[in-house]
Amino acid sequence: MQSSNATELMEKIVSLCKRRGFIFQSSEIYGGLNGFWDYGPLGAELKLNLKSYWWRCMTHYREDVVGLEATIIMHPKIWEASGHTSTFSDPMVDCLLTKKRFRADQIDPQSGTIYFYDGATAGGDNAKTSQEPYSVLLAAGKNAESARKVARTFYEQRGIASPTLLGERTEPVVDSVRYNPENGSLMTEPRPFNLMFKTYVGPVESPDNAAYLRPETAQAIFAQYKNVLEVSRQKVPFGICQVGKAFRNEINPRNFTFRSREFEQMELEFFIRPNEVAEKLVDPPGAEPPAPGQPCRSWGWNEWHQYWVEERLKWYESIGLSRDSLELYWQKKEELAHYAKATVDILYKFPFGTQELEGIAARGDFDLTQHQKFSGKSMEYFDEEAKARYVPHVIEPSAGADRLALALICNAYREETVTDEQGKTETRIVMKFHPRVAPIKVGIFPLLKNRPELVKKAREVQALLRPHMTVFYDEAGAIGRRYRRQDEAGTPFGVTIDFDTLGERPELAETVTLRDRDTMQQTRVRIDELLPMLLPKIR
Ligand code: GAP
Repeated sequence: MQSSNATELMEKIVSLCKRRGFIFQSSEIYGGLNGFWDYGPLGAELKLNLKSYWWRCMTHYREDVVGLEATIIMHPKIWEASGHTSTFSDPMVDCLLTKKRFRADQIDPQSGTIYFYDGATAGGDNAKTSQEPYSVLLAAGKNAESARKVARTFYEQRGIASPTLLGERTEPVVDSVRYNPENGSLMTEPRPFNLMFKTYVGPVESPDNAAYLRPETAQAIFAQYKNVLEVSRQKVPFGICQVGKAFRNEINPRNFTFRSREFEQMELEFFIRPNEVAEKLVDPPGAEPPAPGQPCRSWGWNEWHQYWVEERLKWYESIGLSRDSLELYWQKKEELAHYAKATVDILYKFPFGTQELEGIAARGDFDLTQHQKFSGKSMEYFDEEAKARYVPHVIEPSAGADRLALALICNAYREETVTDEQGKTETRIVMKFHPRVAPIKVGIFPLLKNRPELVKKAREVQALLRPHMTVFYDEAGAIGRRYRRQDEAGTPFGVTIDFDTLGERPELAETVTLRDRDTMQQTRVRIDELLPMLLPKIR
């Protein structure tokens, strides 16, 4: 259950996202579409920044990972091999009164009294009767009449006019998940609901032409692993990564963009030696031992798994999510996906609860072995160094770009009380994004818009910075108002061009004030020093 403070904070964040153009409801003019979201100008930049930084860190800053961009619709056999056709489902229940659908495992347990009915009758001779049993859960202290009201509505929907309820009896219950928490009505038995979106390839809607929108990007990597291996001159251990859309027909999309039906993933499949092969690879005598925590030839899945957990935590820190804001959750045996030997979730402390940002799974050789079986193509690899042939095992760090964007937005949101030069206090809303992911890096402000010489200089500074970073030129309104607008957008730096820039005080000619969003401190910086000063902060 969310506290009222958390709800209020989330409401403020959602409202800022709309007001400032981070996130809009998809198809809003038609009333929206549940579980689908669009990113406005600032949100699109934020998301692009985090995805490209992830990509750079995976592929450009490492020698052992290469990229892939695969299609969203793939051969349907892929989903048979991966197990998604048969097992990618959530338990679903429907309210018998409102037909509202819930995920059975997300129903909060409730206690109280259950009111059972054997049926209902419209009364009178030959009157219509229903013998369908039904029940309603009433929380302690509630009037029995409200259970009867719900039950009467239920039987009315079954064609019994002005129903008289039959066979009422009651029973106390503790922690039941069989009743709709919103109205107490009994729900259907849970049944599996496959989350994949189905479509048809070509003009004929036949079972032979059925295909799916991918529910994860990972499977394309497994399906293309041999091709990539052949062209990239990589050797195990190595990784293939991909950023792209995934689709899940979630039963209950919720918490803003957290659980959406269309979202983006950033996934790495890191191929490693099976333990029995790695164990035999001892380092040659006299070889330098690897630095602590650094990869070593004899590492098995456990060490690689730990390594990637640590790498990913460091990555989150590098974009401003402190370790304090994150938690690790080791999935219990019964929670593990069918393919996983171990999974660690990296959780972020969202206002609505501490929830998963990324899962890091040790998938064994499940996927490649399945694709080998279903495609008939060998997925084996000959390891020159170990002189062994095997199907590689996999460690998979799998992150969600939309969840991360939401975490960054929640993490950045601050309300601060500030006092202006006249001693007036006001609330400053500021988005403290790490400069690496901030949608706009620099706001550029001529002190006055009606002084062509200031405007000309400001445009020159804009032209200087623009090829290297996102800048926003703003000449409208008082300078304080312009700063506030950029604070709300999360712009980490503000550059103001004033009369000193033009040489009013000769010693300050060709300098600007550089304002830091977080400290609000202003320093005087030479224009030709701006780029070397800003670039390392935003890269
Ligand atoms: N290939 C493994 C895999 O897909 P997952 O835990 O189902 O694992 C990985 O998904 C990540 O994708 C999650 O940690 C989350 O960040 C993101 N994700 C999954 N379902 C999502 C949804 N409905 N909406 C937004 N992001 C989602």
